[in-house]
Amino acid sequence: MTKNDRSAKLIIGNDTYELDIINPTEGPDVIDIRKLYNEANIFTYDPGYTSTASCDSRITFIDGFKGKLLHRGYPIDQLAANSHFLEVCYLLIDAKLPTEAELESFQETITAHTMLHEQMVNFFRGFRRDAHPMAIMVGVVGAMSAFYHDSTDVTDPRQRKIASHRLIAKMPTIAAWAYKYSIGQPFIYPRNDLNYAANFLHMCFAVPAEDYHVNPILSRAMDRIFILHADHEQNASTSTVRLASSSGANPFACIAAGIACLWGPSHGGANQACLEMLKQIGSVDRIPEYIKRAKDKNDPFRLMGFGHRVYKNLDPRAKVMKQSADEVLELLGVKNNPLLQIAAELEKIALQDSYFVEKKLFPNVDFYSGIILEAMGFPKSMFTPIFALSRTAGWISQWKEMIADPQNKIGRPRQLYLGETDRDYVPIENR
Ligand code: ACO
Repeated sequence: MTKNDRSAKLIIGNDTYELDIINPTEGPDVIDIRKLYNEANIFTYDPGYTSTASCDSRITFIDGFKGKLLHRGYPIDQLAANSHFLEVCYLLIDAKLPTEAELESFQETITAHTMLHEQMVNFFRGFRRDAHPMAIMVGVVGAMSAFYHDSTDVTDPRQRKIASHRLIAKMPTIAAWAYKYSIGQPFIYPRNDLNYAANFLHMCFAVPAEDYHVNPILSRAMDRIFILHADHEQNASTSTVRLASSSGANPFACIAAGIACLWGPSHGGANQACLEMLKQIGSVDRIPEYIKRAKDKNDPFRLMGFGHRVYKNLDPRAKVMKQSADEVLELLGVKNNPLLQIAAELEKIALQDSYFVEKKLFPNVDFYSGIILEAMGFPKSMFTPIFALSRTAGWISQWKEMIADPQNKIGRPRQLYLGETDRDYVPIENR
């Protein structure tokens, strides 16, 4: 960490406090307020962390104004075009692109861990059939700590590595089985002759009664969806994983916490909400009505798949996702998909509308992903589980980075207290 030559001065009444400024390798400078409370007896107030860096990290960089996303320095569009998900996992976790031998060994390790402990089948069967797959994933991933005792000691780097491999390898099996359970079909076991994305599609769509061949264009599109969701620096679910693990909790419990956070419609649930919105709009001629509603302060309706806390330009992932949507729909012979037409027109109109232009609201990654996933045959309830599966790569990398950092401290935000001050207890008969 390098200090800037400049420093910041905070003047409170007659007192002046000098605060260091830290240079990032990219992005705005950061004022170091770590000593502020001890020295000045004052807190800063920043709900939602809009101006606060919660940690330092070397994994992912986003420039929201330029629409730039880098993993370990590599642009997301280059990774989506030239790499594949397991290579991106390696890059995120190990901070470099693997050599051929390293990649082969990593793929072998992941492939060797794709099966679940057989007793977990009973665990799945304990859920109601109509349980949301995300509810099952939160439960099953948390329960991995009860099945894999030999990889829960976070102080042991070897155990941390095994837990990382297990989570990346088993997440497709867990997501696919959550889906199979909800539709009453038998669980399909992983196939180690298939690549990561093809194996996932096979576990979701194959049945024991007949052969199922994975279309390579679909498995490539699936893999690209995994890459596009792999990491996104300190988003809500990643911050949740970091906060949960700051107490030393085991990795399976921490990733389960991340899955719970991702479930919400403002985060991972947005692609489901976006597809529902496109269906609700129903036809291109009804778009103006919905644009009007989105702009109305008294109407809670928002254009789902639009806007982002960090991107104030086009989300670079949305560009790749749109391209993938076109390819997949063409392959499946649904090029004139009415939802795609509504989405394209909505995007066009919103990008010209002064409300969206002034507030810098652009389509985000979720705008097109629901359309592709539905065309591939996934029900809406599987959209967020697929996001969770992909984001596991990022959660694991961020967790690994944090645990290995000697400065790691338990996360403990302060508060601006606005409640009652001291008062005496009132006996019930006097209230
Ligand atoms: N439609 C209409 N207006 C919007 C939208 C939208 N999608 N998004 C933001 N705005 C408006 C807000 O009303 C607000 O207006 P105001 O300044 O007049 O009050 C302004 O833009 C800023 O919005 P905030 O909610 O303050 O921005 P924030 O950074 O907190 O929210 C968020 C970002 C949650 C993503 C928001 O844009 C949103 O709700 N979008 C729709 C949901 C969505 O697509 N989420 C996916 C995010 S990406 C991901 O998780 C992978």
